[in-house]
Amino acid sequence: MSDPVTTFKVSYPVSPSAGRLALLTMDNGHDHTKPTTLGVDALASLERALDEVAAQSDVKGLLLTGKPFVFAAGADLNQFADVSPEDARYGVSAGHDAFRRLASLEVPTLAAINGATLGGGLELALHCDYRTLSETAGPIAFPEVFLSILPGWGGTQLAPRLLGSRAALQLIIHNALSNNRMIQAREAFDLGLADRLLAPVDFLEQSLALLERLITGEETITRPAPDERHLDEALTEARKVADDRTHGATPAPYRAIDLVEHAARGGDLEEGRQGEIDAMAELVPARQAQASIYAFNLVQSRVRKQPWKPDAEPKRLQRIGVVGAGLMGSQLGALWLQRYQVPLVMKDLDQEVLARSQSTIEGELDKRVQRGRLDAAKAEWLKSVVTYTVDDADLAGCDLVIEAVVERMDVKKRVFADLERVLAPDAVLATNTSSLSVAEMAADLQHPERVLGLHFFNPVSAMPLLEVVRPPHVSDGTMATGFAAAKTLRKSGVQVADAPGFVVNRILMRFMGACGDAANRGNAFADIDDAIKGLGLPMGPFELLGLVGLEVGAHVLRVMHEGYPDRFPLDANFQMLAETGLPGVYDWDRGRVPYDEIRERWQVLEGAEPLTPDQIRTQALEAVADEARHMLDEGVVADARDIDTCMILGAGWPFFNGGICKHLDQIGLSEKLFGEPLVGPHDRAAG
Ligand code: NAI
Repeated sequence: MSDPVTTFKVSYPVSPSAGRLALLTMDNGHDHTKPTTLGVDALASLERALDEVAAQSDVKGLLLTGKPFVFAAGADLNQFADVSPEDARYGVSAGHDAFRRLASLEVPTLAAINGATLGGGLELALHCDYRTLSETAGPIAFPEVFLSILPGWGGTQLAPRLLGSRAALQLIIHNALSNNRMIQAREAFDLGLADRLLAPVDFLEQSLALLERLITGEETITRPAPDERHLDEALTEARKVADDRTHGATPAPYRAIDLVEHAARGGDLEEGRQGEIDAMAELVPARQAQASIYAFNLVQSRVRKQPWKPDAEPKRLQRIGVVGAGLMGSQLGALWLQRYQVPLVMKDLDQEVLARSQSTIEGELDKRVQRGRLDAAKAEWLKSVVTYTVDDADLAGCDLVIEAVVERMDVKKRVFADLERVLAPDAVLATNTSSLSVAEMAADLQHPERVLGLHFFNPVSAMPLLEVVRPPHVSDGTMATGFAAAKTLRKSGVQVADAPGFVVNRILMRFMGACGDAANRGNAFADIDDAIKGLGLPMGPFELLGLVGLEVGAHVLRVMHEGYPDRFPLDANFQMLAETGLPGVYDWDRGRVPYDEIRERWQVLEGAEPLTPDQIRTQALEAVADEARHMLDEGVVADARDIDTCMILGAGWPFFNGGICKHLDQIGLSEKLFGEPLVGPHDRAAG
């Protein structure tokens, strides 16, 4: 569905000193929750408004601004879905035509950047002669490369001319490829994006006053030409970042860097604009951008709607408990405390663990105070409402308790049984298990309907995904509470069935199995990692194993094997890895070289031939496709879109693959294996 249409409204305030001015305001008739986007109709509205202004010979200057909290959020992405190269070319050219008109007005123009300014919105501002920034404006970014397109309405040409190539590449490449990092007004001002940084209280008045002074000549603004002595280094660095983050799997960053280079080397502006149009006509219809639009809609819109949420009242949480105050428990405590701001009980067996947990939780609060995100007095109050205890009785009165004790069924069952003795019958019990059966954990309880899984990922504060595990006997109210918690905790909750490994670990393990098979055939770990990174994944399987830990990896494999012995064989080499007690396969002190012990003990299959990089990738993708098919057939998820959301948000798999199912469809593998795509036209999670 497309965004509401933005219109450009003109009014004509009269300044005693400068005369008649044109005040151009972008608005889509909604509040800030529907940011102003620039679709084809909006561009037509801009052209009409500029015609009107140009026809008034007494207008002395133009000020462009947005509605409250939003300047402009750039192109309407949905208009790019399924477009032909011709339509992409037409849409991009229309933007250039309208923006060029603004730039060629004969009177001074000033963009008063009052709020969120993204992509095409920022390009629009760059077409004005001058810019002011409100101190509270933001986020500000060129997110295009993150979406496998590029700033194609003059961004790659005007940003280097104004800011220099280093700052332009920072915005267009480095930030976009750092998980779409966005900046706030101060940083934007320091980069040179605006001529003045002004207080928000009278921002528009001050911006108008500046325009008046520029018109009367009372004030002039000159900008030094950017220093391009280090251009070659900046370009090399940007190309390296593109290689590191995408491994060449999407062309967009490279095309963007080439265009920035054209501008920074003093290339012709019109040629640069044409270069943008040509690049966009190729990039927008290409599979990477189309997958990115799909992924963007999944994580921005679909997951927020929580299509799985049952129609039941969530429980109000006024007292929360965490059992097991180790690595995960402490992080969970910190998160729930900050977001719910209600009394929290942290329970463990051991006073020493509790003391460590207290310093983790308080340290998190202090960090937020230092960053200006939390009031110091509020932080002290939050610290004062946490109880650290070894006694179950202190959990009495909790409306929800989440357990994060060791990953053992007997321990978890005992914890839940103990909790049932002290909690009210309708208190919710959640488990953070990453592999055990939630139903089995609840089986002996008096009220199994109150038990669900809330599978958080480590590190908890950074990882956006929450797998909301639905065991067979859970009540709708319990699930509604889980989804409400996801919202309050600002996590992306996705419903998954109570099956081994849920989604992320299951897909990763199957993927890992296919890669392990290559190693068993004699491929070097580093060659396998490189082959897999060619898919654009953030890291190779053996690099990832170093982060997860060899023992944890072997443990998850055992759990998966118990559930699905045929597809998750107990590989002897993997079990050997866990026995070594080493942190990972690579001895990083020597570079990306395996530990000698691992190299010596790894058994290569007799007579096997190593695979080519292409064969490794195909084998890994076929394994993932097969597992995704099983998950859909078993009902582990309602729809392939759920798998994609989980892999993007829980494993960092790239937008330009649309997670993974979209990619498998795009390259024809799903059709080849199953005769149909995995992502069907109808979203089955929506009912
Ligand atoms: P951990 O070993 O750091 O912490 C477990 C804590 O539970 C320890 O402090 C231990 O003293 C305590 N404990 C054991 N029995 C207890 C009992 N009866 N009552 C109260 N406390 C008890 O383990 P970690 O890594 O935090 O894992 C906890 C859970 O979270 C496991 O189920 C694990 O599978 C899951 N998980 C772990 C992730 C990770 O990356 N470590 C990621 C996602 C889930």
